[in-house]
Amino acid sequence: MDIDTPADLNWKEYMVDRLDAGVILVDRELRVLFWNHFMVMHTGRGAEQVVGKNLLEQFPELPQRWLKRKVEGVFVLKNQAFSSWEQRPYLFKLAHNRPMTGGVDAMYQDLSFMPVLDMGGQVMAVCVSLKDVTDAAIYAMQLKEARATLEKEKTEQQSLIKKLEQAQSQLLQSEKMAAIGQLAAGVAHEINNPVGFIKSNVTSMKKYAHDMVKLLDTYIDSEPQLQPDSKQLEQIKQIKDEIDFEYLVEDIDSLIEETIEGVDRVSKIVKDLKDFSHVDQGEWDYEDLHHCLDSTLNVAWNELKYKAEIVKDYGDLPQVYCMGSQINQVFLNMLVNAAHAIANRGTISITTRHQGHHVGISITDNGKGMDEEQQRRVFEPFFTTKPVGKGTGLGMSLSYGIIEKHHGKINLQSAPGEGTTFTIVLPVEGPARQEDKD
Ligand SMILES: Nc1ncnc2c1ncn2[C@@H]1O[C@H](COP(=O)(O)OP(=O)(O)O)[C@@H](O)[C@H]1O
Ligand SMILES: [Mg+2]
Repeated sequence: MDIDTPADLNWKEYMVDRLDAGVILVDRELRVLFWNHFMVMHTGRGAEQVVGKNLLEQFPELPQRWLKRKVEGVFVLKNQAFSSWEQRPYLFKLAHNRPMTGGVDAMYQDLSFMPVLDMGGQVMAVCVSLKDVTDAAIYAMQLKEARATLEKEKTEQQSLIKKLEQAQSQLLQSEKMAAIGQLAAGVAHEINNPVGFIKSNVTSMKKYAHDMVKLLDTYIDSEPQLQPDSKQLEQIKQIKDEIDFEYLVEDIDSLIEETIEGVDRVSKIVKDLKDFSHVDQGEWDYEDLHHCLDSTLNVAWNELKYKAEIVKDYGDLPQVYCMGSQINQVFLNMLVNAAHAIANRGTISITTRHQGHHVGISITDNGKGMDEEQQRRVFEPFFTTKPVGKGTGLGMSLSYGIIEKHHGKINLQSAPGEGTTFTIVLPVEGPARQEDKD
């Protein structure tokens, strides 16, 4: 074979010398026996400088213990050993040929440690080969990074989709509520009429019954003037017994009283329904906020009655210029939240005060309270700590928007385990008057 090799190398050695990979031969004491051209090029140390010397003395920056262990392992086990760039990026810190690529500060290397056997089958040296895998490593790392980004985007998308679904169901829900509100207002209006005439009729009947009893009393007074043993007297006595006259006279009054009370209750419910319904949504007017609170309490009563005792501390409030139905919505959200915060049974206090141009309405519960993170996020749309189906996380953000539209404020005081107070501050004259002042 006619290969042009330097005189002191045979052609096999020459090939190993020229391989595009580092090849080093070391003995058990890590003395260098061979040092190929790749190593010369990349370390800048010629074979004549390194061969015959201890590798660790020549390159003190190498991972000494690890390298010793690795070589000793091959001597003992007589087996080849490997180390990939993922386990240890590099053995020698060599410059890589991709200076433009960021994120990599040296040539990444795959290493293998091969036993070199003597005639007797004993390990006499270890051949360390070192492959430049910088390109593959960069590619693998970029891939990993891209996959992580994709994964992150995917979770973000999923949570976005979930939020959208919630928003849609909330929209549906509020459409439904608006429809129910309208229906309730319609029914309330229909019931209002008959309840009106029932009440007026029963009131007249009460008067008539009184008059008739008065007339009967007069007849009874004249009974002694009837012939004893007469047929008439006999008949009167029989009817009186039959109808239990004494009891009837006594009971008729309370029956009519109870009926009037019942009718009053029906008309109060009808009135609350009308007050509460969304039909007059957006109407600005002077409202009696105590009346708003009371009608909201009635509407929410089912939700509240098992959870809390309601303690009212109403101050002297002027009429406040506001959108009554929307303010009702805020009260309702806060009262229901307060009830939800109470595990078994507690107290919800409602305090109202008037100061200068403002009124304040505080709703306090002694429920589970909120930590700092919850307090920071409570007005955030979709923030909820309640299970799916129970909370949408829109109540407080809606309330915040409503109060803001009134140029008011909502203050919050809460501590975990101690309870929560929401205070709504509203300008008495509404936003209009404030704008005049601005
Ligand atoms: N009175 C309160 N006590 C404790 N936590 C409350 C109270 N009011 C509101 N929160 C917290 O604020 C969150 C958001 O409330 P909200 O916007 O009404 O949505 P939702 O009631 O649907 O969860 C609730 O899930 C709860 O964690
Ligand atoms: Mg709520």
